[in-house]
Amino acid sequence: MNTFSYKEIRDRYIEYFKKNNHQEIPSAPLVPENDPSVLFVNAGMFPLVPFLQGETHPKGTRLVDSQRCVRTGDIDEVGDASHCTTFEMLGNWSLNDYFKKEAITMTVKFFVEELGFDINKIYATVFKGDETAPKDTESIQAWKDIFKEYGIDAEVGDRIIENGKEDNWWGLATGGPCGPDSEVFYEVNGKKLEIGNNVFMEYLKTGDEYNPLGRHNVDFGGGLDRIACVSQGVDNFYETDIYKPIFDLVKSLGKNDILISQRIITDHIKAATWMIMDGVEPSRNEQGYILRRIIRRAIRHGKKLGIEGLFTRKVGDIAIQQFSPIWNKLETDRERILNILEEEEKKFSKTLENGLKELEKIIGSKTSGEGNTGMLPGSENLTGPTGVQAFKLYETYGLPLELTEEILKERGLAIKNVEQFTETQKQMQELSRTSSAGMFKGGLADTSDMSTKYHTTTHLLLAALRKILGDQVYQKGSNITPERLRFDYPSDNKLTPEQVKQVEEMINEQIQKALPITYEELPKEEALKMVPFAAFSEKYGDIVKVYTIGEKTNPYSVEICNGPHVSNTQELGKFKISKQENVAAGIKRIKAVLE
Ligand code: SER
Repeated sequence: MNTFSYKEIRDRYIEYFKKNNHQEIPSAPLVPENDPSVLFVNAGMFPLVPFLQGETHPKGTRLVDSQRCVRTGDIDEVGDASHCTTFEMLGNWSLNDYFKKEAITMTVKFFVEELGFDINKIYATVFKGDETAPKDTESIQAWKDIFKEYGIDAEVGDRIIENGKEDNWWGLATGGPCGPDSEVFYEVNGKKLEIGNNVFMEYLKTGDEYNPLGRHNVDFGGGLDRIACVSQGVDNFYETDIYKPIFDLVKSLGKNDILISQRIITDHIKAATWMIMDGVEPSRNEQGYILRRIIRRAIRHGKKLGIEGLFTRKVGDIAIQQFSPIWNKLETDRERILNILEEEEKKFSKTLENGLKELEKIIGSKTSGEGNTGMLPGSENLTGPTGVQAFKLYETYGLPLELTEEILKERGLAIKNVEQFTETQKQMQELSRTSSAGMFKGGLADTSDMSTKYHTTTHLLLAALRKILGDQVYQKGSNITPERLRFDYPSDNKLTPEQVKQVEEMINEQIQKALPITYEELPKEEALKMVPFAAFSEKYGDIVKVYTIGEKTNPYSVEICNGPHVSNTQELGKFKISKQENVAAGIKRIKAVLE
């Protein structure tokens, strides 16, 4: 079997599907725009949800890409052979175009003919059917046919395994397009590794109900890391050429050889460079919080390895070098990314120092407290902080339990009721799980009527601000939930009460005018001429949608956007600004509602 670099695998995949009439689309940024249901794009299909639901895609009905993704659900598993926070997912889509037979055939041919995988090592899974959807006989037939083409008589129960919804059904946790899927497994050293998955999206999940989507889509996703493992004949991600140069550097920096810590640093710093490239900065909230957490975790593991001095810049630099042939923005943003990393590292080192001081205080106060009782300090009094205190040190100052224990040990001390540490940690995790689960409550934001209304209202708001404040205004950021819109724009000052009134009146006037909303598809160059202030233009392909509110000859607003939008402003209700905030130096935020 040939060995291919991950870049070659990626290129071959895209070329193969282009040959099969697919159009290549760029990877969307990691932070989903206008969709608060998840913090990061976590699957290749995520940016395509509106198109899987029926919006026409400017590039047609057959698409291919390699989408960068972040999955933070398993962040604590990172360090084993196959968990990572960022990865690329190879994806090909049929938007109501080809279906099961063609999809399965192309998938197999890609692996066998383009990558040289052995057909004898390929296994398939299919959906066996239940009360909500029938058995996937079409996929079973497609698998039998393609195996036959290579001279193999495949049978259900042998090469083709049937499973229920737990294993062979795919959709986002938030609902939306979904359907039975058919995975591809590859046998490596007796074990079967999933290397790809074709999802046949024919259903729409709303709440607990599955209804026909009215379209047949294919969503194929294949983890590039796993495919690289197979092609390169290695049994863990860190040995592939995706991670190896970063891993080797990390290994060379430390005095101690601790595999898990080396892997965590490799994964986390790589992930951090991607997140920062896509506009995330360390902070207390949302994406920024995840970024901060992974950088700090990497630094703590750096301490375990005994790495001296600052090191994230060095690791970040090589991570950038690794992926800049693919994401050019890494290269152009190199200094910005490395500075943010290093700044966080410095800040955290300071926090750690404060944590150590705090620990000293706890030890000290115990002694003086006991001193106050008039007792002579005896060995029974030589105790360190309690498990709860140790957890607080960890939470507030990032002081890892092992580090606290190590310091105490040097003084002949230990943590009292150390089990409290894990108990408190569990309670906190439970709390954060329920609060992040709360994020999903709004359902699939992209599909809700209210979200669609807020998308259109956001265009009205930008147009109004440009007319009232001037042409320097553009959309710096936007976020939509079914309850409100949030809009960030560059400005030194918040709107005055008069300006708030002016914006509201102007927008409500447009709503009352019952303006039509229309769009046309144009080459990007041309669209950018019409909408020179378009933000985020890099995420779109060569052909983009230009949305117009009002008559074409005298539009109120013209913007590049993927939608979705209402068709007439009169559907919107009454616009009201509910809040203004400072976001950062020179950036103001408006929250607004429709009543
Ligand atoms: N959406 C499916 C997955 O993430 C296939 O692309 O596995």
